[in-house]
Amino acid sequence: MGLFSFTQEIAMDLGTANTIIICNGKIMVDAPSVVALDRRTDKVLAVGEQARQMHGKTHENIRTVRPLRDGVIADFYAAEQMIRGMIKMMNPKNRWFSPSLRMVVCIPSGSTEVELRAVRDSAEHAGGRDVYMIYEPMAAAIGIGIDVEAPEGNMIVDIGGGTTEIAVISLGGIVSNKSIRIAGDELTADIMEYMRRQHNVKVGERTAEQIKINVGAVLTTLENPPEDYIVHGPNQMTALPMEVPVSYQEIAHCLEKSISKMEAAILSALEQTPPELYADVVRNGIYLAGGGALIRGLDKRLTDKINIPFHVAEDPLHAVAKGTGVALKNIDKFKFLIR
Ligand SMILES: Nc1ncnc2c1ncn2[C@@H]1O[C@H](COP(=O)(O)OP(=O)(O)OP(=O)(O)O)[C@@H](O)[C@H]1O
Ligand SMILES: [Mg+2]
Repeated sequence: MGLFSFTQEIAMDLGTANTIIICNGKIMVDAPSVVALDRRTDKVLAVGEQARQMHGKTHENIRTVRPLRDGVIADFYAAEQMIRGMIKMMNPKNRWFSPSLRMVVCIPSGSTEVELRAVRDSAEHAGGRDVYMIYEPMAAAIGIGIDVEAPEGNMIVDIGGGTTEIAVISLGGIVSNKSIRIAGDELTADIMEYMRRQHNVKVGERTAEQIKINVGAVLTTLENPPEDYIVHGPNQMTALPMEVPVSYQEIAHCLEKSISKMEAAILSALEQTPPELYADVVRNGIYLAGGGALIRGLDKRLTDKINIPFHVAEDPLHAVAKGTGVALKNIDKFKFLIR
């Protein structure tokens, strides 16, 4: 607690992969959800990008933690420290003033009461005085610019790091939702496994993610194909350094199984959608948000397969955070915020 206090209003997308903080409509923090802790004292050594740089490169006295798993808080202490650290990043000059925070934080739509309380408690421990929560697909829809209070069905598919969440929204509420634990992290794991099995090369999580970002695809023919991505790593058998070019076609094959599971989840969500809303969804198309929406060919593949147009949100990595920011400005108006 500082000597004086003032109120600051912030919106936070606490994601499995990335945490984003918006203040006055501006993105103030956009950092990987990672914290580095001293193993002996549990003191925070680094937060965000700096902590991620350490990930996979630590010695026995340092541990790097991703406090969220599958969209929910898995390590309560680390989550709280991370939120604190990120709020500090936003106010680097304010050493003496610790603001009293009015916050809107988003949570996965399938959250249990316990998971919801974990988010609220971490936010409060990190300085939140007045904490509201919003369901992520609702925030994504608002961020995309959909009028969520209209009597009109819209379907959102948010492919994050930990979960893919599919929801139909109408009249300011979530009519139906489905969440599966197959999202960006799982695709990265598929690539790690593939590189080991197919190319005999060991790659870490960060390299596998780079492969996904550089040549990740879900179709074996693309209009604008990326060039092969060169991967360096040790040969599994000999430990000698190897150089392996990786093409988007092979990654499309390697991701096939996980992408099929996402497709099945979308189909099952459509099946559960009441007919009047279904008709709206077919007319409006389905919106893709989250970092996973950026994978090459996804919108085209889904559009062809499901026969409903899929649209990638303008800025998929920030849609949820932007919507949470809009919710912050409408705390009194939006009835669907959770206290
Ligand atoms: N260009 C890209 N192509 C494919 N995947 C990408 C790309 N950019 C980011 N990603 C992936 O998107 C994921 C992160 O997305 P996002 O920030 O929406 O997740 P999150 O909100 O932190 O997670 P969650 O919503 O599950 O808690 C990561 O798995 C990342 O590897
Ligand atoms: Mg997210």
